[in-house]
Amino acid sequence: MSDPGSLAEPGTPEAELLARIDPGRLPVHVAVIMDGNGRWAQQRKLPRVEGHRAGVDAVRDLVEAAARLGLRHLTLYAFSVENWKRPRAEVWTLMNLLREYVRRELDTLVRNDIRFEPIGRWRELDPSVVAALERAATATAGCGGMRFNIALNYSGRCEIVDACRRIVADWAAGRPVDIDEATLSASLYTSGQPDPDLLIRTSGEMRVSNFLLWQIAYAEIWVTPVLWPDFRRRHLFEAILEFQSRERRFGGVEAVDLSPPARPDAAGA
Ligand code: FPP
Repeated sequence: MSDPGSLAEPGTPEAELLARIDPGRLPVHVAVIMDGNGRWAQQRKLPRVEGHRAGVDAVRDLVEAAARLGLRHLTLYAFSVENWKRPRAEVWTLMNLLREYVRRELDTLVRNDIRFEPIGRWRELDPSVVAALERAATATAGCGGMRFNIALNYSGRCEIVDACRRIVADWAAGRPVDIDEATLSASLYTSGQPDPDLLIRTSGEMRVSNFLLWQIAYAEIWVTPVLWPDFRRRHLFEAILEFQSRERRFGGVEAVDLSPPARPDAAGA
């Protein structure tokens, strides 16, 4: 753990959970499907966008806790290709929240050595959002701490299509590459990063919703009924404890040591 002392007040439930985490077996890459903002707002008779607004606080707490805990990669699903189907006003609010979050948090990201990277077809977003994202990605490009990927205008299927297009473009440019798992992995938006070990989904839904379809092949999945705006670091700690209690076999018969993470060479269920 890079800075466990500031992660939880002594004597709190967070501290008790934190004390049970084995720092030598942390997941290297945690991916999160943030869900339930609308329901959170509905329960309070508020407009849906208030759920998104409250969700930003949950993002802030998670990013800080994940970095201090020593996670190497964190990927958050913030806006899918399918989310364009939502009312215009909701999409507009989401984009504003995102732009403001990136602007406000940039100093904190740099201070905490967090490398920020949007993934997805994010360059198709509003130019003001793209500019804020580019600025944050550039300003944090040299940070060597946690990699914070944010999936925007993202779809797992589109990602695989884009990877295939990249490979075809290489061939067309006279750079023939092998067509195998390694080439496809290296052509994804998450190129060079390990696959997620742990996938967290909030709000109790049992779906992967077109998120990191290739990369989650062997991820452990943890679903919590907690709605995203209520998600705090203690829930991350709970997820990690559950992850550490699981036996990962990657299609073999023997448990694989959780750290460092192993990628299966051969397919198997
Ligand atoms: C799903 O809840 C959530 C989203 C589509 C957007 C996630 C956005 C945020 C957490 C806020 C902005 C993000 C950043 C990074 C600043 P839903 O609206 O589908 O909830 P429902 O299923 O209850 O309707």
